[in-house]
Amino acid sequence: MHLKKQSLTLFTVLLLCGLLYIRCNDSSKSKYVIAAIASHSNGQQFVGSATCIDCHKEIYDTHQKTAHYNTSAIASALSIKGATSSPNNTLNVNDSLYVKIEQRNGSLYQNAYAKKTDALLNSNKIDLVIGSGVKGQSFLNWRADSLHQIHASYFVKSNSWIKSPGYKDGVLQNNRRISSRCLECHTTFVETRPLTTLKSKNTYNRNRFIEGVDCERCHGPSAEHVKYHNEHPKELQGKHIKIIKALTRQQQLDVCALCHSGPRKLKIKPEFSFLVGDRLNTFSSPDFFSSRSELDVHGNQYGMLLASKCFKNSKSMTCTTCHNVHKNERNHTQEFVNKCLSCHDTKLNCGLDMALRVESKKNCISCHMPEIKSKSMFKANAITKDTISVKVFSHYIGVYPNAIK
Ligand code: HEC
Ligand code: HEC
Ligand code: HEC
Ligand code: HEC
Ligand code: HEC
Ligand code: HEC
Ligand code: HEC
Repeated sequence: MHLKKQSLTLFTVLLLCGLLYIRCNDSSKSKYVIAAIASHSNGQQFVGSATCIDCHKEIYDTHQKTAHYNTSAIASALSIKGATSSPNNTLNVNDSLYVKIEQRNGSLYQNAYAKKTDALLNSNKIDLVIGSGVKGQSFLNWRADSLHQIHASYFVKSNSWIKSPGYKDGVLQNNRRISSRCLECHTTFVETRPLTTLKSKNTYNRNRFIEGVDCERCHGPSAEHVKYHNEHPKELQGKHIKIIKALTRQQQLDVCALCHSGPRKLKIKPEFSFLVGDRLNTFSSPDFFSSRSELDVHGNQYGMLLASKCFKNSKSMTCTTCHNVHKNERNHTQEFVNKCLSCHDTKLNCGLDMALRVESKKNCISCHMPEIKSKSMFKANAITKDTISVKVFSHYIGVYPNAIK
């Protein structure tokens, strides 16, 4: 009797296990359906960062606040940082006309008016915003399937509207076509037409456009990874995804150099084809000759860093030695100083007296990576020729006699 009861219980347990086993392995029930938002030219699919929340919530949350994530967006009162109502929404173009940035029926426009009559001369809807607004923003609109840069850009330093970089003084221009190279650095993915020619393209599929530098820009299209981990929730090892830390130093640097090594020359493969793990030099070659002289808002942090002793004389330094790209770290000076001190002796001799030395531990950056004026992003006064320039932290880490007050 006693025995029988036990074997019955055992039987029930086995039966339940069997049923559960069938359930867990019933692939038709646990199949994860991919909702792809775009396809890379190699066939891999993008799924968007919202699908990462379930498993990488912390990174997802902090990433939303980064300049990367916000570097391009659909135009809205929120994404446009410049004034869209009077008095600061006007840009003087010349003696006869001005541009006003205005909201109408829920959309935003750059409208040109005649000075004498206030008659509306032309109207350009703002469809896309380029730039998170750390230094400035430019604005684009769709005409059929191509994108154009509209006249006014927003300049943060003067909190005002300026003519877009490269447009002529005193002339109303709205016609610069936006190339796939521009979007390659400021978006996650855009399907270009045609997909695979080498020539810079400027026609796009608007429905296959992923704004911002999102997770999959750096980690690659992740549909397979998301599908695998949804179907195998107990797997602790990341699958179908590149482990960046396991890549070579050069491969790790290339993830950033794609966009942070300035204007590259000699294109070998089309825009948007580079993926994490690839060697950038097989896609385009760097333009090191001009790298020191063209330190700019379209920065060449990569070229500058490579030239500095810090980089040359350490075996492992990469961009992520100092940067955690998943977080907005702008002006977190102390965190950066701690990175310097992780390699440099705290008693180091900067040729300073004791008082300054104590002070200096708080900010190595201002003396050794000083902010330098950009040569392409500035606001000029047409009459006095005075300029207000954007400043960029120099990644040529070294001794700057002039930076030391
Ligand atoms: C169903 C869960 C799940 C989803 C959804 C998911 N991941 Fe993962 N991911 C994991 C697990 C588990 C690991 C391994 C543990 C870890 O590193 O967090 C991982 C690791 C990673 C790694 C690190 C590889 C390494 O070790 O360096 C990256 C990068 C990554 N995921 C990116 C993404 C991106 C991008 C998305 C969204 C498009 C995403 N994941 C969505 C579960 C998921
Ligand atoms: C080679 C990659 C690359 C290309 C091409 C590129 N940019 Fe940039 N852009 C950057 C980087 C990197 C930054 C941030 C620079 C820095 O802080 O050093 C930036 C900054 C900006 C900013 C200021 C952003 C802010 O919030 O402060 C604007 C606006 C901008 N770019 C517009 C454009 C437009 C418009 C084009 C195309 C006509 C373009 N860029 C082409 C890489 C690029
Ligand atoms: C600008 C490029 C970039 C973007 C955007 C980015 N990552 Fe990463 N991610 C990296 C790099 C580089 C590493 C390797 C970090 C290291 O070497 O310490 C990394 C590492 C990881 C890891 C491994 C664990 C860790 O914390 O190091 C996970 C998981 C991950 N990323 C997920 C994401 C998700 C999810 C998003 C979007 C919400 C995202 N990443 C956006 C560049 C990026
Ligand atoms: C797809 C192009 C792209 C890639 C890849 C990329 N960046 Fe950027 N990065 C940008 C652009 C564009 C900006 C300017 C964003 C803005 O303000 O609009 C930027 C800004 C930054 C900033 C300034 C952030 C701030 O708060 O102003 C840092 C730091 C940075 N990138 C580091 C990195 C590192 C490190 C990597 C590699 C792990 C990397 N980036 C990869 C395009 C890229
Ligand atoms: C990964 C380790 C590492 C980190 C992190 C690091 N350095 Fe260095 N740095 C070095 C090495 C190695 C040298 C070369 C020392 C030598 O050869 O005498 C160096 C050299 C220097 C020099 C002398 C440059 C010259 O041209 O004479 C300065 C200044 C310097 N570092 C400042 C900094 C500052 C500031 C930071 C933080 C922003 C920093 N370093 C972060 C490793 C590092
Ligand atoms: C007030 C400006 C100032 C600050 C702040 C400062 N330094 Fe220096 N540092 C200098 C000067 C000037 C020299 C060159 C000294 C010389 O050649 O006699 C120097 C030299 C160095 C060197 C090369 C020294 C050597 O022995 O070759 C390193 C490394 C260095 N600094 C790192 C740092 C680090 C790390 C910090 C932050 C903890 C820092 N410095 C803060 C001004 C500064
Ligand atoms: C030795 C440390 C160190 C390394 C390595 C490093 N950075 Fe930086 N980076 C900094 C510091 C410090 C700042 C200033 C941050 C601040 O105060 O907001 C900065 C700022 C930036 C900015 C914003 C520039 C600006 O003026 O607005 C970009 C973009 C950037 N880094 C990209 C990179 C890239 C790409 C790499 C690799 C090629 C890299 N960094 C390597 C320390 C470093």
